[in-house]
Amino acid sequence: MHPKSTDHLQGMGKNILNPTLARQRFMGFALHTDRMMPSREICIRRLQTGINPIKSAAKIDSACTNRYYPRPISSPNHSVRMRTPVIAGNWKMNGSVEMARSLCGDLIEGLRTAGDNASRIEVLLCPPATLLGQVSRAIADSQIRCGSQDIDERESGAFTGQISASMVIDAGGTHTLVGHSERRTLFGETDEVVARKTSAALRANLTPVVCIGETREEREAEQTNAVVGRQISAIVRHCGADVFRNAIIAYEPVWAIGTGLTATPEQAQETHRFIRQLLAAEDSAIAEGCRILYGGSMKPDNAPDLLAQTDIDGGLIGGASLNSKDFFAICAAAIEQAA
Ligand code: 13P
Repeated sequence: MHPKSTDHLQGMGKNILNPTLARQRFMGFALHTDRMMPSREICIRRLQTGINPIKSAAKIDSACTNRYYPRPISSPNHSVRMRTPVIAGNWKMNGSVEMARSLCGDLIEGLRTAGDNASRIEVLLCPPATLLGQVSRAIADSQIRCGSQDIDERESGAFTGQISASMVIDAGGTHTLVGHSERRTLFGETDEVVARKTSAALRANLTPVVCIGETREEREAEQTNAVVGRQISAIVRHCGADVFRNAIIAYEPVWAIGTGLTATPEQAQETHRFIRQLLAAEDSAIAEGCRILYGGSMKPDNAPDLLAQTDIDGGLIGGASLNSKDFFAICAAAIEQAA
């Protein structure tokens, strides 16, 4: 377990629901919170009447549209929270029976040599669906977990080529990616489809790794926060913020995926922090506990600096996850950071 300090989030959700306290405790608002945020009573009523998800998604939309970036001041009454880092490999449309066998063997051996320290991190492999059963058998007696790269939002039926969440579980998976940028851009998945897939995963007891991120054009137009805010709020609107008690978020700037370009640790941290603050506007405990992974050309040489950032809780790795030496080197960097 790595002590990632979340001091800056202590009480944030609570204070955001209390405009006066919020103004006192946070600096740097572009707008006054009392014009943007409903009172605590109203929020409780919304919770009771069940319309909270929509309203709380609206809060996130509003935060992004209005460029609302709360900058917290530290509180003396804080405790340090822990988030276990996750190192996840997304093999995409790569791999074979032989590659899976040898990569899983190498990884199990690497983690064994790290001894007890290896338990400080979670390791996840997302092979193509054809290899899921094999990978799950190969890692059965290890700390490694596996999952799919996508699921269908429906449970079963005449949907040729699709796989459901329960099929992933049946094959030994525990997780699934949803909303990877390649699914969004190449296969037309909208924010709403991604939200429904997130919900389908959770219904079946699969942990969703919800992928979000902006394109190069969006970053250049300074739309990064608006885009990730929109992607998160679609999920909150559909499922409620509580999904982030279980779901993992992967922030993957599209311009960094497979390009060799990486967000600098500072750029990545800034967006991760923004995402966590959006969650904190819903509930500070959810924000403190939610793992937010970075993805986009993470390699052994840049992983230590990225993983050292306060709000980066691991990595979602594409190319470098196909090579056991590189992938294990990133796991080793996370183990080291978690010491
Ligand atoms: P690369 O690590 O190859 O840039 O891919 C990142 C990714 O898309 C993981 O889901």
